[in-house]
Amino acid sequence: MTPAGAAKATAQAMAAPTRPEVPPDAPPPPAGDSAAAWREWAAAALARAGVPSPRREAALLLGHATGRGTAWAWAAGAGDALSEEARRRLADFVRRRAARLPFAYVVGTVEFADVRLRVAPGVLVPRPETETLLEAALSLAPDGVPLRLADLGSGSGALAVALARRRPRAEIWAVDASPRALACAAANALEHGARDRVRCLLGDWWTAFSGHARAALPLDGAVCNPPYLTPEEWRGADPEVRAEPVEALVGGPTGLEAFDDVLAGVPGRLRPGGFLAFEVGAGQAGAVAARMRARGFTAVRAARDLAGHERVVMGVWEGAGACGG
Ligand SMILES: C[S@@+](CC[C@H](N)C(=O)[O-])C[C@H]1O[C@@H](n2cnc3c(N)ncnc32)[C@H](O)[C@@H]1O
Repeated sequence: MTPAGAAKATAQAMAAPTRPEVPPDAPPPPAGDSAAAWREWAAAALARAGVPSPRREAALLLGHATGRGTAWAWAAGAGDALSEEARRRLADFVRRRAARLPFAYVVGTVEFADVRLRVAPGVLVPRPETETLLEAALSLAPDGVPLRLADLGSGSGALAVALARRRPRAEIWAVDASPRALACAAANALEHGARDRVRCLLGDWWTAFSGHARAALPLDGAVCNPPYLTPEEWRGADPEVRAEPVEALVGGPTGLEAFDDVLAGVPGRLRPGGFLAFEVGAGQAGAVAARMRARGFTAVRAARDLAGHERVVMGVWEGAGACGG
């Protein structure tokens, strides 16, 4: 662009400030800078897009867009002004959330147990119910002793990072078949000061333990939140779920295929006396427990999440000779 052209473009930009980009079906955004008016507009736009709890989400997005938190965003009144940058950021958040992207993808972070994790499209958003799997692992992994653990299908690294924080003497191998997920896990481990103890391995479940990683075997324990939906369940899921990577969610025609794959690889990878804890989907606990017993696990039991659903199945590996496993 010539200097004259640049000057003209600058003059035009100053004369007509660009309007924030808003969702196609949204009501017109407020003319002024009132935080309360923008919050109400966000709630209306999200409601029109069918987002559940639009008022709550509008306040959460306003809190993120301003960096002032949710309490401020809920309480902000007509006298609280939003900067142009905050208005633009809020409109961008609302546009993406109204397209039914998961909330965590829109703001780029999610809370899991006591950690705030980065998350991005292509990586599963950690769920609150997965904290039940974390609690199960903590009940099986003693504190104060060196441990070698695996987080099979680590995704964002939620379990690996949370375990590393709670078990400072543990080394955790975060395994995932997705390079994007693994990069996210590595970034989260770095951010939480655990990069030296969270070792990222790209590959297929246990077979990822090849080359230098083979020396880590056998392990003291493993957690695994595998893909466990059936294709039909996935098709019937909310748009936000279908915006997540399908390979992180769908296990195969029965939903149980990944459990079988992981269990088949246990011999030689877990030490006798080591533990394995799975997250399971609705109605899967009995089938997974039966599979674990058939493969030579003892002390097999389920744990319930806060909603009362059997969410985790765990057991102790007795060794390959125990049951022909
Ligand atoms: C349900 S997500 C769990 C993510 C994370 N652990 C959590 O709880 O939020 C399942 C993860 O398993 C990974 N995965 C799927 N098939 C795999 C395979 N064959 N080997 C390794 N990882 C796999 C997916 O990429 C995904 O990150």
